[in-house]
Amino acid sequence: MTNNNIYFVANWKMNGHLSLIKRLKNVVILSNNKKYKKIKIIYCPPFTLISKLFDKIKKSKIIVGSQDCSYEDNYGPFTGDVNPKLIKEIGAKYVILGHSERRLKGDTNKIINRKIHAALKQKLKIILCIGESLKDRKKNKTFSVLKKQLLLCLKKINNLDNIIVAYEPIWSIGTGVIPLNNILEHDISKIIKFLKLKFKNQKPKIIYGGSVNPENIVKLKHIKNINGFLVGGASLYENKFVDIIKKTTI
Ligand code: PGA
Repeated sequence: MTNNNIYFVANWKMNGHLSLIKRLKNVVILSNNKKYKKIKIIYCPPFTLISKLFDKIKKSKIIVGSQDCSYEDNYGPFTGDVNPKLIKEIGAKYVILGHSERRLKGDTNKIINRKIHAALKQKLKIILCIGESLKDRKKNKTFSVLKKQLLLCLKKINNLDNIIVAYEPIWSIGTGVIPLNNILEHDISKIIKFLKLKFKNQKPKIIYGGSVNPENIVKLKHIKNINGFLVGGASLYENKFVDIIKKTTI
């Protein structure tokens, strides 16, 4: 392995079906290969597919996560919500929070912060998504937006041990457009600097997400200071996902 890229997160969003789960043979093989023992492959399918996914990957090192959770930390009359206890109970270890597609549905930084606290209470690990819109970037507001998201989402959080920050520029999600390496590296180093200042003596874990695919990974893997990738569309194709992991870890 030539770099620190350890985390490969597959975010299936509201996609996937049973037949897709049956087609994970090559990822299972890769996850059990000693050559890849340092990497963590995390699949985040829709809630309804989590238990079926477990059946399929039982004999592998693949980890399972959910794409969201409720901020309610206990059971109760909250129709349609899934709390962190239920997620933990089914065996998932991670939860993606703050994804821009959830923010569009009403998740504010304050709500995300509540979700983070509820999930950490259940000892789930968090993948916290942050990212700016194209409008923010054009107005030179990228870092102020990211800083605000980090400050509010991580309010009253004391350490980063169980948190991975996923930097996902909104304009890059699902568009095929990725930032230039030098710009990405610059933005990521600012995020790291900010987190190091806020969380003294800690080593932030940062991953990148937005249109990652088997072609552009050969460029993206050279980004310094990141620890992996959050992959949406391409993760629905097993061979593309395997390709991304293999090319990154050559
Ligand atoms: P994408 O999605 O890879 O399809 O751009 C990434 C994400 O939204 O997490």
